[in-house]
Amino acid sequence: MAAFRISTMLLCVGIAVTADRFDCNAVFLTVSSLWRPSSHDHGLADRDLELNWEPSCDPAMLPDWVGLFDTNPSTTEIPSPLVKVHPADHHDGFFRTNVSLGRPLLPGGWEFGHNATPTEGDHCFPYWAASFRGDQLVHMDCLKIRPTWMWDHRLQLRSLSLGGLFIPGTHNSACYKGSLTRRDTFSRYLLTQDTGVWGQLVHGIRYLDLRVGYYPPTNKTDTKDHRTRFWVNHDLIRVGPLLPVLREVKQFLQKTMGEVVILDLHRFPVGFHGRPARHRCLVALLTRELKSIALPVSSVSASTLLRDIWDRDDNRRLIVAYGDKNVAAESTWLWGPLSQVWGNQQTPSGLRNFLQRSMDSAKQRSPGLWAAMAELTPTPLDVMFNPTGSLRVMANAVNRNLTSWFRNEWWSHTNIVATDFFLGNNLIDVAVAANLRKINMVES
Ligand SMILES: *[C@@H]1O[C@H](CO)[C@@H](O)[C@H](O)[C@H]1NC(C)=O
Ligand SMILES: *[C@@H]1O[C@H](CO)[C@@H](O)[C@H](O)[C@H]1NC(C)=O
Ligand SMILES: *[C@@H]1O[C@H](CO)[C@@H](O)[C@H](O)[C@H]1NC(C)=O
Repeated sequence: MAAFRISTMLLCVGIAVTADRFDCNAVFLTVSSLWRPSSHDHGLADRDLELNWEPSCDPAMLPDWVGLFDTNPSTTEIPSPLVKVHPADHHDGFFRTNVSLGRPLLPGGWEFGHNATPTEGDHCFPYWAASFRGDQLVHMDCLKIRPTWMWDHRLQLRSLSLGGLFIPGTHNSACYKGSLTRRDTFSRYLLTQDTGVWGQLVHGIRYLDLRVGYYPPTNKTDTKDHRTRFWVNHDLIRVGPLLPVLREVKQFLQKTMGEVVILDLHRFPVGFHGRPARHRCLVALLTRELKSIALPVSSVSASTLLRDIWDRDDNRRLIVAYGDKNVAAESTWLWGPLSQVWGNQQTPSGLRNFLQRSMDSAKQRSPGLWAAMAELTPTPLDVMFNPTGSLRVMANAVNRNLTSWFRNEWWSHTNIVATDFFLGNNLIDVAVAANLRKINMVES
């Protein structure tokens, strides 16, 4: 990735480099978590594309202009941009366009349930950001999926451990509903993602955080099928059935050769308290759906190298962490509770301070898997009395900061990072680049 110019020598001796740190020409695309009234009908528009560049660059170093394109701009004749902006006029390092990504098919044959074998490697949606000096293109990047990034870089990443990897993840991963309706905009604190679990994995997310609720049958005719009793919850509210989510995870692992995925059933907010039989019932469901692809606890730990996972002959690449340690202890393949550091912060600067402390203590911590929960948290007062607040607004307030904090400062000590509306930050690209930089540090 062109955004990094630090020599590995300097990193090893810990000299902070400020000059020439960034490529000020570098641009990338994100997708806004906000929605707006649509301009051509009475509906809503969401998933607007955002142009991004490095906010800490001196305006004199920035490119003359940045464009959004729907065809590849690196041709002899520059196609006309959908949007053209002068970065020097926008001081926060980004511009939110009114061009919506919408919900296009995933490229490369990566649609869920697609019969043919999908194509490995990164694939572009038909949107590019490009920066120019005069009429000279100096940098470009597309909005992309990275469905096989671990395996694509297997020769380099094989010597990194699970605890040493930078793993991009999502928070409340399955709190998602297809396209946005007016009604959804009223429950402003329910949905945390605008892409389903399958789409997240295909984009490059490798850590999923789920909260599971149990809902008993409501009447005699209600189905006796226990599998339908388990739901994905956001705290006390159920969002969607659990089973399809498990099937998406399984299909993803079956369609890829080397991707390692962590599924964290982190809490059980409804229907489990004092009900061990319901835990047993959930474990039975997980066993039937996932055990055959899950890594056993005894043979894998945070210090296991990717190479050791890839060299196994059983092709198991899923880690399932279970938020109840007594239940996990009875199983050979459910990992115990995964450590999530959550700051309960309401502002970007509060979150920054909290994450900074977590990163500092991670340097001392023994290597175990841990997840930095990198999202703002509403207070009960926000939920009740702030009519303009929402999880979308909060994700928008902090997602761009996350990209630059993790890219420029915390990348070497980060394990898992879980965010809301993950397409609003660039942490998948940041993680892949950081992992490749870590290798260079190990080898030099
Ligand atoms: C998008 O924004 C541009 C200005 O940047 C404006 O001219 C145009 O009408 C807007 N289009 C839509 C569909 O809202
Ligand atoms: C029983 O519960 C199911 C599932 O909640 C519902 O679809 C069905 O309509 C209910 N039947 C009656 C008679 O209330
Ligand atoms: C977060 O990013 C915005 C620009 O998007 C910037 O103005 C603000 O200072 C940043 N906040 C922190 C705490 O770094």
